Amino acid sequence: MKTIHLVLAATALTLAASCGQTSSRTEAFDGPAYLNPSLPVEQRVEDALSRMTTNEKIAVIHAQSKFSSAGVPRLGLPEVWCTDGPHGIRAEVLWDEWDQAGWTSDSCTAFPALTCLAASWDPELSLLYGKSIGEEARYRKKDVLLGPGVNIYRTPLNGRNFEYMGEDPYLASRMVVPYVKGVQSNNVAACVKHFALNNQETNRFTTDVKVDDRTLYEIYLPAFKAAVEEGGAWAIMGSYNLYDGQWNCHNDRLLNTILKGEWGFDGVVISDWGGVHITDEAVTNGLDLEFGSWTNGLTEGMSNAYDSYYLAKPYLDKIKAGEYGEDELNDKARRVLRLMFRTNMNPEHKMGKFTSPEHSEAARKIGAEGIVLLKNEGGILPLDGVKNVLVVGENAVKMMTVGGGSSSLKAKYEVSPLDGLKAALSPKGVNVSYERGYVGDASGSYNGVTTGQDLSEKRNASQLVADAVSAAKNADVVIFIGGLNKSDNQDAEGADRLQYGLPYGQDAVIEALANANPKLVVVNISGNAVAMPWVDSVPAIVQDWYIGSEAGNSLADVLTGKVNPSGKLPFTFPVAMEDGPIKTEAQYPGIPTGKNFAMFRFTEETYSEGIYVGYRWYDSKGIEPLFPFGYGLSYTSFEYGEPSANSLSMTKDGGITFTIPVTNTGKVAGAEVVQLYISDKESSIDRPEKELKGFGKIFLESGQTGIVKISIDADALSFFDAQKHEWVAENGEFNALFASSSRDVRKTLTFNLK
Ligand code: GLC
Repeated sequence: MKTIHLVLAATALTLAASCGQTSSRTEAFDGPAYLNPSLPVEQRVEDALSRMTTNEKIAVIHAQSKFSSAGVPRLGLPEVWCTDGPHGIRAEVLWDEWDQAGWTSDSCTAFPALTCLAASWDPELSLLYGKSIGEEARYRKKDVLLGPGVNIYRTPLNGRNFEYMGEDPYLASRMVVPYVKGVQSNNVAACVKHFALNNQETNRFTTDVKVDDRTLYEIYLPAFKAAVEEGGAWAIMGSYNLYDGQWNCHNDRLLNTILKGEWGFDGVVISDWGGVHITDEAVTNGLDLEFGSWTNGLTEGMSNAYDSYYLAKPYLDKIKAGEYGEDELNDKARRVLRLMFRTNMNPEHKMGKFTSPEHSEAARKIGAEGIVLLKNEGGILPLDGVKNVLVVGENAVKMMTVGGGSSSLKAKYEVSPLDGLKAALSPKGVNVSYERGYVGDASGSYNGVTTGQDLSEKRNASQLVADAVSAAKNADVVIFIGGLNKSDNQDAEGADRLQYGLPYGQDAVIEALANANPKLVVVNISGNAVAMPWVDSVPAIVQDWYIGSEAGNSLADVLTGKVNPSGKLPFTFPVAMEDGPIKTEAQYPGIPTGKNFAMFRFTEETYSEGIYVGYRWYDSKGIEPLFPFGYGLSYTSFEYGEPSANSLSMTKDGGITFTIPVTNTGKVAGAEVVQLYISDKESSIDRPEKELKGFGKIFLESGQTGIVKISIDADALSFFDAQKHEWVAENGEFNALFASSSRDVRKTLTFNLK
């Protein structure tokens, strides 16, 4: 009997344990509720808040150092550590400086720029990206990753477009959600930035954007909305600029009405560094965590000025003076506590990984899948059967992970395009030689991180071209690798580009090379569109990106055909800037208003082009772009079969699932991105000719046919009615356009909304 009894007792315990009823588990924890890992976050938050003094609540809502905010030492609540940036984990800086702390354990994996990720049109890669970079953040004990950026590409001059996801709100929305989820799966908060309307660097602290509601809701908010509502972002960064007269780090409409009100955001609004200027607004307009303030503006300040921050002593004094109760303070502190319990106090205790082989593989794969083949005549690419390859251009050797502003990194390594090509071709007996071709920017340091490269050059410009041309004459193929770089007024934070064309006289070098050898490939490395006056004299053109540690390998994989390119442009390449929607100074860069505040002189900018941004504009004006949004070639070809739909009539709360067969009609395996644009054939208001509302990427072997399924609901048919302040889908006929680019519609299906 005894035995049976024991068995029964054991079974009972097991049973109880399995449904968590066992007393042992709750009894094992005898600390305060906020420290009990098995309690729900909200319960832990409330318990912690109830134990905090007013001073402690003030302490946790502003920085204590350049990248950290205080915890509550008395209660064992940890500091919160932030780190840049969207492409990799920034090197450690000194407590109160931008300069390097000189650590020897913080050289990271540099992942591709987000323009590259967007160009892959592959949400699964975005999840891989977020997971990988989140692992690096967690390993470096960072709780908030200051990225991704999803500001819309409004002008090719914006210095920070390389950090963002292109001109279309739907593409950016689909690509930001998995990134956020991937990062946060590591108990690290993604901090989606810069909210909102931060679409240029010129006058970034003082530009006051005026934009109509329809444009705001249709173009500039969707990616942030998706990041919050679908991605579950735990943090949002307010932007430096103003919207409708209020700075965005304490903008009542953006932060309280829209972000926290309409979208139900329960995370933390973090200021951009130095983006806070007014205590009263910071208290009431939705800011939760203040970073980077200088007590007297942005250009200078006291060191260790943290007690003088707008949400520090000035706020505490106002509470003591009875100007405020503690409701706003409790809401801010509650959100910061929630951030702690989601990150550094998350019971999952993820440990992350740093510079692992998997992260290098991820960077290389994302890089290769984001590269866009723009032109390939005469079958020059992929390189095959060539013996002598000449590589020309500074961007073939120049490190690009250093510079560009806050996204600058101290990478563990960076494979240059030249090194990547040599590694891929030399073992095959191919001779790879190099000519500089031109001198761009020989410098190589940012915030104390240096590339260590010596890019000095004694030859003058004409000698450099002459040497490249004479070498070109003897090559089987010439690969020019140029474009922009991370220097000021290029692809860099803090200043916009000053011209649409390539800098450093590259156009002349390209023309000279084209004359010297018709077998010429131009690889443009940039995060922005550029003019290509030589487009007709160059048989092969590749849009490459800032790909980071694996840059050279990703490019070599594509140029050698190891990877068949499948990237599609996330933004339009206009022939000329003048073709674009920006026609007046009021639209860009804005007009001084004469108004000022402290040291700030404001400029006002009106987005009068409205929703007609990117392909929406070029379609509306019938302007032929150089290369359209969504464009990208492959080493194979694809044929679209006849699309079908589960119904050609949908109701407002219904939906339609389209299916379309795609066949790889070429000789090699490859991937195609089928893009679904919706065109409203009859609408009461002006609408773009078409808008991207779905896409599917499909990998097919040569000769294989696959099926792409894309489902839509009424959201895909809607426009934002500013008067009603709601999305409206009007009954009537719509066209579903199945396209290989925004200018290459292969099939059309007409359906209606009842
Ligand atoms: C910078 C950038 C922001 C960055 C922050 C911290 O000025 O605008 O993207 O995360 O400050 O470096």
